[in-house]
Amino acid sequence: MNKLYNIRMRSSNNEQHISGAERIVSYERINRTVSEMIERSFHHTRGQPDFTSVKIEEIKEPIKMIEPITEEIEVENSFHNTLETLKTVLKPLTLSDELVTRMYETVNSKENLSGAILIDLHTGKRLDNKVNGIRVSRFDWSLKAHEWFIENNPKAYSERQLDAFALASKVQASNVAVELCCSDDPNYTTGYLAFNNMYIRIPNMKKMNTFNGGRVFVIDSTKYCVEETIDFLENQSVLLEGEFM
Ligand code: COA
Repeated sequence: MNKLYNIRMRSSNNEQHISGAERIVSYERINRTVSEMIERSFHHTRGQPDFTSVKIEEIKEPIKMIEPITEEIEVENSFHNTLETLKTVLKPLTLSDELVTRMYETVNSKENLSGAILIDLHTGKRLDNKVNGIRVSRFDWSLKAHEWFIENNPKAYSERQLDAFALASKVQASNVAVELCCSDDPNYTTGYLAFNNMYIRIPNMKKMNTFNGGRVFVIDSTKYCVEETIDFLENQSVLLEGEFM
């Protein structure tokens, strides 16, 4: 395989985060990708950045190929009954009500950590020791898988959804049992649950015009090593490919 590069962009204003994105591309696509990211950074609903960072890193370790989550389901809910909806959807995993409540409260928090917190499936105890949580990084669609997915999925996918899908696919390829996510964007209320390789959209995870948000990963720490899982999520380069190609 030709050399591949991980490009990471983040922008902020007065040190408040505005946007972030990342891609894994060949040398030939670096220019175009960087210019698309800069466009994205300067045209964000959160406002104009006064700082933008773009990093380009050659990937030296072997890249792991994974399959994207294929099954996508959308439930109906109102923000009044989100917790009940989560409990219903998560029934097959037989998690305790306390754990599901803890997950819900974590992603509906005003704390707005930039990363995800990792909690234990049995005790609900936080397992990572990172002030801002775990930031999943070094993942992307392969060019072919990206084209295939858009062509073969009848719904129009936004870049935001495709990024969320890729991130959730990397998380599902790790030892994490369940992921719950709620965007802190005040105009975007749709969150998702991912487990058993399914991606379940929750249209009203939170009330419109609220800045609450967060991401939580649940792991069975009696079965899996927490440090290895965090290292995989943060540092292992992953490309979404698939049998379908
Ligand atoms: N929210 C708030 N602050 C963020 C942030 C986010 N999503 N991402 C980065 N930052 C800020 C933090 O201050 C961070 O410092 P910290 O690690 O002490 O918390 C600092 O930027 C440096 O972060 P780092 O991850 O080292 O920057 P990077 O330039 O290497 O990568 C991203 C930036 C955004 C690409 C990467 O952090 C990331 O989150 N990638 C994966 C997911 C993604 O693409 N998210 C955006 C769409 S969902």
